[in-house]
Amino acid sequence: MTDLAQGAPAAAVDPAVLRDVAEGLSRPQKELSPRFFYDERGSRLFEEITQLPEYYLTRTERALLQRWMPEWVGGLAPRALVELGAGSAEKTRIVLDAIAAVSRSAVYVPVDVSAEFLDETAERIRAAYPTIDVIPVVADMTAPFALPERLPGPTLHAFLGSTIGNFAPEPAVALLRRVRERMGETDRFLMGVDLRKDPARLEAAYDDAAGVTAEFNRNMLRVLNAIAGADFDVDAWTHRAFYNRQAHWIEMHLVSSRDQSVSIPGAGVFHFAAGESIRTEISAKHDRASVEAMFAAAGLGTERWMTDDDGLYAITLAAPR
Ligand code: AVJ
Repeated sequence: MTDLAQGAPAAAVDPAVLRDVAEGLSRPQKELSPRFFYDERGSRLFEEITQLPEYYLTRTERALLQRWMPEWVGGLAPRALVELGAGSAEKTRIVLDAIAAVSRSAVYVPVDVSAEFLDETAERIRAAYPTIDVIPVVADMTAPFALPERLPGPTLHAFLGSTIGNFAPEPAVALLRRVRERMGETDRFLMGVDLRKDPARLEAAYDDAAGVTAEFNRNMLRVLNAIAGADFDVDAWTHRAFYNRQAHWIEMHLVSSRDQSVSIPGAGVFHFAAGESIRTEISAKHDRASVEAMFAAAGLGTERWMTDDDGLYAITLAAPR
C-alpha cells in the first residue's frame, strides 16, 4: 500500500468492501453500492436533500406517520421497535411517541451500518425517551444479522424512508423474508414507500435545481478515496438521474467526463471512457400491487395501506400470514 498517496486510508480496508467495489466496477454497467454515499458529509447532504422543495418523500412520509401512527400503534401496543436503516431516527420519533403513549416501557433497536451515527442517535433517543431502552445494532441489513435475544412482544419492525427502493425486486423480497422470519404472530411490519408517478416529477426529486443531489452522488467518490485510498478525481464526474420506465426505478449515475483510470489499492485499476458511467443507486418506485406482490413472496400480508391525498407516497402495515 502506498501510504504516502493522498487518498491513503487511515485504517486497514475491509477486504469485503474491496471485493464488493472490484466486483461492481468489473460489470459491463459499472456499479457501486449506495452504502458508500454515507460518511458524515454524505449523511449531511442527504439531510439537506430531505429539505429540498423537489424531494417530497421525507415530508410526505412524516405527515403520513403523524396522521396514522397513533391509531396503528395504539391498536398494537408494541413493546419493541426494530428499525432497519435507522440513520438519524428523526421520523422514528413519531413512531416512538405513539409507542410511549401506549406502552409503559419499550425497547428500541435501531439497526444501521454506521456505528458513529448510530451511537449519536442512541444517545439522543435515550435522552428524549426515559421509558425506552435503546439497544443499537451495527449491521449491514443487506445480509443476515443478529438481533438482541428475547425482545418483548409485540415487536414492530420498521423500514421507513422508502429505503426498500434501493433494492431490486429479488433482493427486496429476500430482505423482507428475513424480517418475516423474525416475526411472531402478533408482530407487525411498518414500511414507507415512494409511489410511481409522472417521471418528470420523479426525475426532479433526484436532480434538484440547487445541485445538492449531484453533490451527494459525487460524495461517493470522496468516500472511496477516504476509506479505500482510491484516487478518483471528483471533478471529472457529473451527476445523472433518470427514471427507468421498464424497471420502475430511478437510476443515479456518475458519468466520467473524460477518458480516465482510477486506482483502488487492493481492488485494481479501472478504466473509464469519456461518457461511461457508474450506476450508484437505484430507487425503485412502487404501487399497491407491487408492494403486495413483494409482501406475498415474503410471507407477509397487508393490514393497512395509506397514501397522502396526492398519491405520492404510502405507508403500510403488514402481518405474517
Ligand atoms: C434514502 C434510499 C430512500 O432513494 O430517495 C435521495 C436516497 N438518493 N436522493 C432515495 C436518495 C438520492 C433515498 N433513500
